[in-house]
Amino acid sequence: MSATTQPGSPLPTLTLDGEQVEFAPGETLYEVARRHQTQIPTLCYDPRLEPFGSCRLCAVEVEGARAPVASCTTVAVAGMKVCTVTPQLEQHRRTLLEMVASENRQVDVDPLSGSASQELKTLVDRYGARTGRFAGAHSGHSKTEDDNPFILRDYDQCISCYRCVRVCAEQEGDHAIDIANRGFHSQITTEFDQLLKNSSCTFCGQCVQTCPTGALSDRKALRAAPLPEPIEKTRTTCPYCGVGCSMDILTKGEKMVGIQPAMDGPANLGALCVKGQFAYDFVQHRERLKTPLVRGEDGQLHPASWDEALDRAADGFRKASERHGRHSIFGIASGRAPNEAAYAMQKFIRAGYGTHHIDNCSRA
Ligand code: SF4
Ligand code: SF4
Ligand code: FES
Repeated sequence: MSATTQPGSPLPTLTLDGEQVEFAPGETLYEVARRHQTQIPTLCYDPRLEPFGSCRLCAVEVEGARAPVASCTTVAVAGMKVCTVTPQLEQHRRTLLEMVASENRQVDVDPLSGSASQELKTLVDRYGARTGRFAGAHSGHSKTEDDNPFILRDYDQCISCYRCVRVCAEQEGDHAIDIANRGFHSQITTEFDQLLKNSSCTFCGQCVQTCPTGALSDRKALRAAPLPEPIEKTRTTCPYCGVGCSMDILTKGEKMVGIQPAMDGPANLGALCVKGQFAYDFVQHRERLKTPLVRGEDGQLHPASWDEALDRAADGFRKASERHGRHSIFGIASGRAPNEAAYAMQKFIRAGYGTHHIDNCSRA
């Protein structure tokens, strides 16, 4: 049996629930099963992260193995015979879910909490798992004193799946959070147990969006939880820089209430920065500019036509150049502008004013 294959040779196969299927060398059993539309439950799995194998929910039976194996960490081998659904596996999964659900104060959390926040609830419902079956000690203490404006840290809800820790390290490269202690004393924490704002956290929100229980949740979006309208999602592209991250705008009625990153966004794969994730208040801000303003002789800003505003700007550029020289002009193009507009902008600055002082907001 071998997991490697020569170029041009047929792909290796294994038996998945009685059916012979091909797999690519290096694929895990979970990945093979998912490609074949087999629904194996997971909690600690995030396709963007290195498999971790902590929840054991994805266990499958492999012929010849003494005990079920975690499919997310087991690499497929040619000739394997794998069963993903048996009465024993389903009972095992239900019991595991009842253990984590018994520990958590609440399973049914608001979907505004985060992108993956419904995962535990969905599985508890799917397996009819009882939430109070295993009364006893609880792990995780909420950090209610962490009064940052973006992230709620309610570790009473934590199931120690480490997705937040791994996404922070592997996706964000930040290592702002880690796990301290073991067993019932396990706790997600920052260096020296600091508040997030005093740690190396950049408030990118990725930990919030991968948390499957709402233990980490979007404090800003949750302000809209009492609004009665249903949540609607609209796929769009972040307007801030040139990367072009895909995101879903969350609205309730006419109100924009939050943002969730698109896990399948080709440029960002579920990642956003703090601006894309949380800095959206400008969209519906009462002082948002809707028309050009020019300063009148009274020193105040007044609404103006675009022609009037552009004439005034041109006059200002010309005067600055005459008074202080051509290098007093600096142009910053929008990182979201198409190539043609970026080309026109650098011509405008270079040919129009004779300076190389030109950049774009993706770098500035
Ligand atoms: S917000 Fe981002 S940087 Fe901060 S802990 Fe979460 S993943 Fe890490
Ligand atoms: S806070 Fe959420 S993502 Fe992090 S370990 Fe706990 S349950 Fe998992
Ligand atoms: S999803 Fe495989 S062990 Fe958690």
